Amino acid sequence: MSHRIAVIPGDGIGKEVMPEGLRALEAAAARFSINLNLEHFDFASCDYYLEHGQMLPDDWFEQLKDADAIFYGAVGWPDTVPDHVSLWGSLLQFRRRFDQYVNLRPCKLLPGIKSPLADRKPGDIDFYVVRENTEGEYSSVGGKMFEGTDREVVIQETVMTRTGVDRVLKYAYELAQSRPRKKLTSATKSNGIAITMPWWDERVVAMSGSYPEVSVDKFHIDILTANFVMHPDWFDVVVASNLFGDILSDLGPACTGTIGVAPSANINPEGTFPSLFEPVHGSAPDIFGKGIANPIGQIWSAAMMLEHLGHPEAGQAIVDAFEAVLAEGDEAILTPDVGGHGTTESLGRAIAERITG
Ligand code: NAI
Ligand code: MG
Repeated sequence: MSHRIAVIPGDGIGKEVMPEGLRALEAAAARFSINLNLEHFDFASCDYYLEHGQMLPDDWFEQLKDADAIFYGAVGWPDTVPDHVSLWGSLLQFRRRFDQYVNLRPCKLLPGIKSPLADRKPGDIDFYVVRENTEGEYSSVGGKMFEGTDREVVIQETVMTRTGVDRVLKYAYELAQSRPRKKLTSATKSNGIAITMPWWDERVVAMSGSYPEVSVDKFHIDILTANFVMHPDWFDVVVASNLFGDILSDLGPACTGTIGVAPSANINPEGTFPSLFEPVHGSAPDIFGKGIANPIGQIWSAAMMLEHLGHPEAGQAIVDAFEAVLAEGDEAILTPDVGGHGTTESLGRAIAERITG
């Protein structure tokens, strides 16, 4: 069996870190005898937009829908294409049309990387944020009336469906169940948002019956953000609505140091459509062309992709490899953001060699 992977580097440093992501992916595939069929696409980039006047070809859905996964770099080149055009015209189309209703981000403090939180060391921070990615506060229900008058009024409704909430909770419970600590934390705000959030809490309790081994707690979002900073060691899997998850999934990785190493997954768990794996960072125009972008965010995304495709041992080998290279701390190899004077390629090659063993 072969996995069909759509490879889309996108813009800026996406084009620099993607080759290193592929180097790691191919090293792991070779070591674990995984058959990959990589297909390269130049769309979903601002270069494509400048040539064609749109971010995607009309038949993009047909071209991508049968892929087993999409491996993405970064999108955005604000000097030539406004960010809302490049983002809405590409990534957000994929997330919606491929019903990638789970946004998953690991928050893990790695060896050799300094946390902005004082005195935190590897092992202290190691959790996942599971964000609902399709509904909730980010809805298109609402409108404006009496525009431009004193009576001007704007309304935007939160939409939570039992289908939408239960399926993301199920994913989070399953993930918690699979981890040693088996702990789930739910982000709520049932004291202030007194209709949807108490209902969210009820759904969390209803689902808990199916996962007796998982211990569950909940925090209001305000104190939860404080606890991410003060007690990051408390968390194992954190599940949240779209808006709360958006905030937590930036705050969590921020607590673990450089943005260059953080990965993310947009997942359609049933596999009806391809899931998408990408680094958290953007196209970084300020460093593009210098060859110094940290490739670990892209490489870690490859590890998440292999795990999703049913090869957890291959994913783990990639994670072990970059953790070992970071722990060694060879400044000639590491990129400047993690204290070295090496290049995207020197770090990528060192990791790939480690994977090969
Ligand atoms: P950014 O993530 O591209 O850069 C923020 C800062 O982090 C910059 O100083 C950059 O040099 C640094 N940085 C980012 N990745 C790095 C890496 N791998 N190694 C070392 N340093 C790294 O965010 P910014 O500047 O706000 O956005 C630039 C463009 O990227 C915009 O067009 C934006 O819309 C787009 N963007 C795309 C995302 C995506 O594709 N998912 C996510 C975030 C932004
Ligand atoms: Mg965000």
